[in-house]
Amino acid sequence: MHPLEPLFNPQSVAIIGASHHEGKIGNIVVHNIIASGYKGEIYLINPKRGKILGLPVYKSIDDIPSVDVAIVVVPAKIAVEMADKVASKAKYIIVITSGFSEIGNMDMEQKLVESARKHGSRILGPNVFGIFSSKAPINATFGPAEIKKGNIGVISQSGALGIAMIGKAAEDNLGLSAIVSIGNKADLSEVEILSYLFQDELTKVIFMYIEGLENGHEFMEIVKKKPEEKKIIALKAGRSRAGARAVASHTGSLAGSDEIFDAAFRQAGILRADSLEDAFNWVATIAASPPPKGENVVIITNGGGLGVVAADACEKYGLKLYDDMEMLQKIFEDVMPEFGSYKNPVDLTGQAGAREYELALRRAFENDAIHAILALYCERGDAELESLMNTLIRVHKEYEGKKPALYALFGGEGTTKIVTEMKKNRIPAFYEVEDAVSSLHALYKAYEKRDEEKIEDIEMDDDAIRKIIDAAINEGRSRLLSHEAKEILLHAGLDVPPFRLARNIDEAIEYANEIGYPVAMKVVSEDIIHKTDVGGVVLNVENDEEAIDAYELIMKNCHMHARRARIEGIEITKMLPPGTETIVGATTDASFGKVLMFGLGGIYVEVLKDVSFRIAPISKKEAEKMVREIDSYPILAGIRGEKRKDINAIIDSIYRIGILVNKFGEISELDINPLIVYEKGAKVVDARIIIKVKK
Ligand code: COA
Repeated sequence: MHPLEPLFNPQSVAIIGASHHEGKIGNIVVHNIIASGYKGEIYLINPKRGKILGLPVYKSIDDIPSVDVAIVVVPAKIAVEMADKVASKAKYIIVITSGFSEIGNMDMEQKLVESARKHGSRILGPNVFGIFSSKAPINATFGPAEIKKGNIGVISQSGALGIAMIGKAAEDNLGLSAIVSIGNKADLSEVEILSYLFQDELTKVIFMYIEGLENGHEFMEIVKKKPEEKKIIALKAGRSRAGARAVASHTGSLAGSDEIFDAAFRQAGILRADSLEDAFNWVATIAASPPPKGENVVIITNGGGLGVVAADACEKYGLKLYDDMEMLQKIFEDVMPEFGSYKNPVDLTGQAGAREYELALRRAFENDAIHAILALYCERGDAELESLMNTLIRVHKEYEGKKPALYALFGGEGTTKIVTEMKKNRIPAFYEVEDAVSSLHALYKAYEKRDEEKIEDIEMDDDAIRKIIDAAINEGRSRLLSHEAKEILLHAGLDVPPFRLARNIDEAIEYANEIGYPVAMKVVSEDIIHKTDVGGVVLNVENDEEAIDAYELIMKNCHMHARRARIEGIEITKMLPPGTETIVGATTDASFGKVLMFGLGGIYVEVLKDVSFRIAPISKKEAEKMVREIDSYPILAGIRGEKRKDINAIIDSIYRIGILVNKFGEISELDINPLIVYEKGAKVVDARIIIKVKK
């Protein structure tokens, strides 16, 4: 039995602060519990005694036996005073009361948690609207009394929005398995609620409204355990970038909290909606549709224009229109007028009515080469809308479960009525074509096969890496010197061209000859971050003479532009032939931990922001997705006669960085910029590593 079973399926509940006054929260909760047909014991507590809604009222919590759930609806101060007693009587405490950490009253909230801990009970809230669970059934919220039962589980961080969702779900006739608001998350968070819904047989689709996650890492761990058949749609509020964060790398400055959420959701197979409207459309579609068995989509329409709009939208979302003309002709030719078109979109023309739609839909449902149907209808003045509505609903119901079918009906009052009626029958129907297509896309995404996350440890010289990190920590240095960063990457198995640190002109000449001209020479100093800006870099050094000049020039420039900088020496590296510059990096997010980044590198990375993120560590498959995800991927794949770059070498580099930063937690930021990619191989040119030094 799941530990949260008593919360979702309580045998007994107590309402602390049950109110005699109609309209007060403490009265509505009691009313809703009774109205939901709750079969367990109900204990009402109020010092005024008497009866509330026909139930006896106990003077004190001392007068009742232990319960599975206590619902607290007394003002915050009283809630804190009673916390110990309540915790001693209940396994779960739902604190509806507001006035805690959300307005800065941390201590009061802490007191609730301490009381619960002392007695081994758990808290939902405070500052929540309660819980509805169809399993019990119980509606212990102060929202609407009537909640339809179904297969959608809702977790909302916002109480007010959660209540609004109940209303919206009722309007769209969506059935809920459970709705929980988690409020201030003083104790129970979305992680545990998710783990309950994952094993709850009544829940198929989970809709989450998230404002922030303090425990992103734990969240990812639980979502990884999501059973294949459960689908999650999330609406994350606040797309704004992270506030001022002390970052010292490109990766850090590009990884705003929103980008990280996006990456985490994508990686975890959670569909992220941009608006409540989208979220509800997707939830309704996924809750009511079977999985698509293949990629062939057929559009059936009575208006060419609407068909084109849908076809364009399908292209935008990457949905595949079935294009076997011979088959399409065979399937649809005799269900349309001569001037119709069986090409996809299948155009039944403006004269099509209920009969034509019935025939075409039946053909589409019955043919196994077609995997999903988008049926569109443009309202015509003279149409027999009533009969069309009945036909669409009847035919859909007859084939329900065979394949996904979504409908978009465009027009006035008549089509509005059809859509409303179809929604009542839990059929995915929309007013806008775009909404139907986006929902079908969401359905396909929800059933996309997830790759098995295989992260094999790879051989790295752990001891050598540890030595470099420890040395810096001992010296209190957080910024590793260029050659130290490169050494770490070399030990991690990346391809780092030969490099040496020269501390004087003689060494510079010796190393340049050892490495072989042409070489690049760069100043190495903890105090100089932007080496080029101070004239600390000379490229294409061809011979000893040039090496001497370069050494002197760099030293002169640095002394002039960065007077106080402590200079370690000059790094001599092999001058590499031009290739495609990419950036691979890692940063640390307070909630999700290590985050990886990949993008096209060079000077444009901060401007174009064409980068992808993942939470580390990742599998090679996931690294491949990161590479393919950036808009400039065609440049790597080879365009206009240019050869394909060594994408496997990039994948290997990202994979290794994921393992490296995961293994060595002290690495807080890392940039390889650029990682130059060739037709064969990918080489580290410049590297920066920041480590966390405990103060
Ligand atoms: N034990 C049990 N009941 C007690 C009590 C005690 N020690 N002391 C008082 N009560 C009773 C009161 O007598 C009252 O009952 P009555 O109406 O029959 O007289 C009832 O508890 C409620 O107390 P009251 O002082 O009237 O509070 P209230 O109803 O005005 O407000 C809350 C209580 C919890 C609703 C309010 O403090 C609150 O937090 N509101 C916001 C809730 C919210 O929005 N939550 C987040 C949703 S997302």
